[in-house]
Amino acid sequence: MREDDVSKAKYLVADTSALRAECPDMPKRIKVFDTTLRDGEQTPGVNLTSDEKYRTAMLLDSLGVDVIEAGFPASSAGEVELFKRLSDAPMSAKICALARASTPDIDAALSAGANYVHVFIATSDIHMKYKLKMSREEVLDRAVKSVEYVKAHGLPAEFSCEDATRSDPEFIKQVYMAVEDAGADMLNVPDTVGASTPRTVYRMIREIRGYVKRPISMHMHNDFGLAVANTLAGVEAGAQQIQVTVNGVGERAGNASLEEVVMALRLLYGIETNIQTEKLFEASQFVAKLFKVWPSPNKAIVGENAFAHTAGIHVHGIQANALTYEPFLPELVGQKRRILFGKLIGTSAVKAWLGERGIKATEEEIKAVTGKIKEIGDRGRGVRDLELMAIIDSVTGRSSKQRIALKQLLVTTGTEAKPTARITLSVDSKEIPAEKSGDGPVDAALNAIESVPTPLGRLKLKEYHLDPLTGGSDALCEVYTTLQSESGEEETGYAVGPDIVITSIQAMINGMNCLLDRRASRGSIASHAAEAERNQEKR
Ligand code: KIV
Ligand code: ZN
Repeated sequence: MREDDVSKAKYLVADTSALRAECPDMPKRIKVFDTTLRDGEQTPGVNLTSDEKYRTAMLLDSLGVDVIEAGFPASSAGEVELFKRLSDAPMSAKICALARASTPDIDAALSAGANYVHVFIATSDIHMKYKLKMSREEVLDRAVKSVEYVKAHGLPAEFSCEDATRSDPEFIKQVYMAVEDAGADMLNVPDTVGASTPRTVYRMIREIRGYVKRPISMHMHNDFGLAVANTLAGVEAGAQQIQVTVNGVGERAGNASLEEVVMALRLLYGIETNIQTEKLFEASQFVAKLFKVWPSPNKAIVGENAFAHTAGIHVHGIQANALTYEPFLPELVGQKRRILFGKLIGTSAVKAWLGERGIKATEEEIKAVTGKIKEIGDRGRGVRDLELMAIIDSVTGRSSKQRIALKQLLVTTGTEAKPTARITLSVDSKEIPAEKSGDGPVDAALNAIESVPTPLGRLKLKEYHLDPLTGGSDALCEVYTTLQSESGEEETGYAVGPDIVITSIQAMINGMNCLLDRRASRGSIASHAAEAERNQEKR
């Protein structure tokens, strides 16, 4: 790559020629079969309503998946209702229903309006003996008859040998060849308990491709953390479809994660899919909220830390060219880069952070801010953006220009007393008292503050967020508040301290002062920074 291309690149293109020479059957394009709404819904503790599934299907369609396995119509009336709704929806993806190799299951899929049927039956000895209580002959017969039945109704049929990777290779050969003859359009290979390795999967897919002509699909579980690697091994051996879920949700340890496989295919293998990768982060957040299962911070692609940098040396490199310490730019997957401030940070990172937000500070001030961050880092924690703003405010002396300050506070609470707060605020040097009660001491104090008339009129508390920063009864806590003025302007306030009530009040006051600064266009650093952040978000 030429020098100016590197400076503009979103990722450094991998040379895949050696890989292609070693894996001649590897396709150039892969179909994405998403099973977030079927295998994903089997995540322990997850139960989705048909409306939630409908909204998820819409999102998956806009993400660009080729097939949405929306559920299992034989299992409930809600599933049938969902398929009926989806069959009228304007969608490009095929809507697939799962069905056991049985006529009633397939009938349920057909009458619900699915336009694609995924039939499965177990083929491993352990499943046939203990679960199905069927002989190999019976299983083979059921498999063939079910595929014939789907095809007789004019729909595409995908067939899975459940527990394929632990089945007798000779038996699954018989089954896959027979269902292919019966008209199966896609042959799926499930690693049902995730007990394979990339090498065994590669060998197995090559072997299957040796005796069938239909395309092969991968369905890998993550019990050993190998689902993504195994899926990719299958693709190296010539598989043309991947069955995946957003965030890797699914039964037990989950399935191969859509975002990881798709990004690896695109950037490490040079294989395209229909996925609009810029929407991956949004899809991940949507599924995380709905399933109430959050990806771990260090999860690849969509984790909170996937594009976060702390170390000074790394941040320095990132500022020169982000690709020094990122495999690709976060915007490629709709993510954002985050610079975290800790003891390893250098002055250049602080300078860049201020510069990005249009905040001016002298070299001495930057050094002092960096010193404070390191001090906090040495005490065992990092500094978040809003706390950094507060540090900058205090280092540059802007905090002394606060127009609103807390003069006095008295809180009473107890088993026999209604929590009440009496406060005195100094507003432009005039002392204003207020007294209010509430559900607890914090609520009472915040109610009292809200009742004080400020130069901006009465301010409403829209959001309040409290986090403990350290452990123990003397723990530090941090509080974020969002205030709204009568004219609808909003401002975030932040404070950190050991007393929950006082820290909550300080966060409110910090927000009030920022709002006043913004109004007066005197340019509080905090409000500049918050505004710059808001603008960046809008962009
Ligand atoms: O893991 C599995 O075997 C399955 C089948 C239904 C394909 O999810
Ligand atoms: Zn599965």
